[in-house]
Amino acid sequence: MNEIKTIAVLGAGTMGNGIAHVAARSGYRVLLCDVAQNLLDRGIATIEKNLAREVSKAKITQRQAEEARAAIVPALDREALGGCDFAVEATTERLEVKAEIFRDLDRILRAEVILASNTSSISITKLGAQTSRPRQVIGMHFFNPVPVMQLVEVIRGLETSQETFETVQTLAVALGKTPVEVNDAAGFISNRVLMPMINEAVFAVMEGVATPEAVDKIFQLGMAHPMGPLALADFIGLDVCLDIMRVLEQGIGDPKYRPCPLLIRMVDAGWLGRKSGRGFYTYT
Ligand code: CAA
Repeated sequence: MNEIKTIAVLGAGTMGNGIAHVAARSGYRVLLCDVAQNLLDRGIATIEKNLAREVSKAKITQRQAEEARAAIVPALDREALGGCDFAVEATTERLEVKAEIFRDLDRILRAEVILASNTSSISITKLGAQTSRPRQVIGMHFFNPVPVMQLVEVIRGLETSQETFETVQTLAVALGKTPVEVNDAAGFISNRVLMPMINEAVFAVMEGVATPEAVDKIFQLGMAHPMGPLALADFIGLDVCLDIMRVLEQGIGDPKYRPCPLLIRMVDAGWLGRKSGRGFYTYT
């Protein structure tokens, strides 16, 4: 396995720009790739804002922020990723989108390069099967906000090699994170446990058991969660929560994972949480 110097990050959204931020701050060169200039511009602007926040909190120096920013090169064309030593994909949580990207990366990147996905619920084995290198396909699941959260859930697909697994564990540590190993199953561990809790909180609101504010206060004050489940659902995105519940329902096949009708209605209405300005709470 060659030394990793340049990392390709596919997707400049919340997770992708967070991963690019952390990789650049950890001394890697980053090619941040997305399909439209405005998405790249927005991702880079978020990274600049978050680096400035870290400078203002004296977590890094102004010079370190400038070096990290300079290490990130935007790319509109996937062909530009050819020289990268590692790729991590953080695009829309849809199998067909990720499958197309994995087929393309398999063609573009050198045969020994590892292709990781930040998917929060899609099968790593299925993504591996899109490529001619399933031994080098792995899940590397970061948490939002990526610069702050300590965890990387590392998911082995059916064919993921031990060498790939060890390289990714080492990389996660080099990024300042703590890797935790999980096998490939719908929702892995984080979302298999988190999303049913959020979904149950939505059921409780729908049935009039308590207001969103009351539900969240119970978890903040009673269980010391930094955010209650409904504020967290708004933070993650209600559409993302719904997609993950559907993956759990289909992948595990137990009706206990059925998405709450209120969650479905809110997504249908375009109430997606913080990103749309309205979810269980309103945001200005
Ligand atoms: N980049 C860099 N730093 C950031 C940041 C960002 N995007 N967002 C927050 N921070 C830093 C702040 O600067 C602050 O630093 P200090 O402690 O040094 O002052 C710290 O994080 C706390 O931030 P704030 O004071 O602004 O606000 P807060 O105390 O309310 O914390 C929070 C915000 C970190 C988001 C906290 O509420 C939290 O931990 N919430 C839970 C988040 C969570 O559960 N994430 C996982 C979601 S699930 C997921 O991502 C995976 C999936 O598959 C769905």
